[in-house]
Amino acid sequence: MLISYPMADSPNPHVPGMDGLLKPLFGKARGTWYLHGIACAPEFSGIGLAGQLMHIVEGLVRSAGKSRISLLVIDTNEHAIQFYARRGYATTAKEPVIKNGWKTSAKNWLLMEKPLA
Ligand SMILES: CC(C)(COP(=O)(O)OP(=O)(O)OC[C@H]1O[C@@H](n2cnc3c(N)ncnc32)[C@H](O)[C@@H]1OP(=O)(O)O)[C@@H](O)C(=O)NCCC(=O)NCCS
Repeated sequence: MLISYPMADSPNPHVPGMDGLLKPLFGKARGTWYLHGIACAPEFSGIGLAGQLMHIVEGLVRSAGKSRISLLVIDTNEHAIQFYARRGYATTAKEPVIKNGWKTSAKNWLLMEKPLA
């Protein structure tokens, strides 16, 4: 599955519930097409399905006239980071993970972005 949508160019004051911990990075992703989530069931992993979804989304983003895709990933998710890096995504910002009870060894959220030609 893959969930993605365009980020507004300016913050919406009527969405107070937006995750405050990620606010600084969301702010930097304004105006991009945001890739909210991607996942593949383990039994279907490694056969190119997620790669095909990424390819389809890039086509949709171009059709929508957007020129940048963004996503957030924690710094311990090395498989996903490499997956994105091989597809042209680069880290453009990072913010410390505020754990708030979440059991994770991650230290930072990474904002990764890809410009589309
Ligand atoms: C990140 C994630 C979505 C990647 O899924 P995946 O199944 O490994 O992705 P793919 O199979 O499309 O790509 C993996 C590799 O398999 C390769 N591959 C193997 N067989 C293939 C085939 N028959 N056709 C095309 N590609 C194939 C791809 O080329 C790719 O290699 P590359 O990255 O060097 O191009 C998956 O690991 C996942 O669900 N992780 C857990 C959720 C998660 O962490 N999501 C990200 C949160 S930010």
